Amino acid sequence: MSNEHEDAGTRRDFLYYATGGAGAVAAGAAVWPLVNQMNPSADVRALASIRVDISGIEVGTQLTVKWLGKPVFIRRRTQQEIDDARAVQLGDLIDSGAENDNKPGADANDANRSLDENGEWLVMLGVCTHLGCVPLGDGSGEFGGWFCPCHGSHYDTSGRIRKGPAPTNLKVPVARFDGNEIVLG
Ligand code: FES
Repeated sequence: MSNEHEDAGTRRDFLYYATGGAGAVAAGAAVWPLVNQMNPSADVRALASIRVDISGIEVGTQLTVKWLGKPVFIRRRTQQEIDDARAVQLGDLIDSGAENDNKPGADANDANRSLDENGEWLVMLGVCTHLGCVPLGDGSGEFGGWFCPCHGSHYDTSGRIRKGPAPTNLKVPVARFDGNEIVLG
């Protein structure tokens, strides 16, 4: 990738969103007026957690939602992406930690990063761990996952940093399934 943008760069110049998928985000904020009267901190909690309907996400596509002011990638991986991610040896990774808030201290094996056991769902903050740009998705980069064009960081199909200046894997936030939804936070 060219470095032509580096000098000019404020981070805002590079807020790329990986795919354009549209999705409905049901924010807990809708109930804010009521709960706020009952509990001063409830509004904060409501905003800190959102629900995302994932029933419309096709295999091989990614939905990007905004949560706590940051993009979150929700990718429904293909079997090939899963297989590629699970074939990688820990010793080949720059960051050997899962960086998964749901599994503190776990190693970076793909099974410790995906939200489900089979590895179909990968949920990550879409924030490059170098200086915070939003990486490009859809198989971008040399490892078929995500690519940050700001300074050339390549992430694999598990969102793990494989090449470039980013020091750590893309972060997996607190998340869980609830029926057809994923709850973030
Ligand atoms: S912000 Fe520098 S490589 Fe992503």
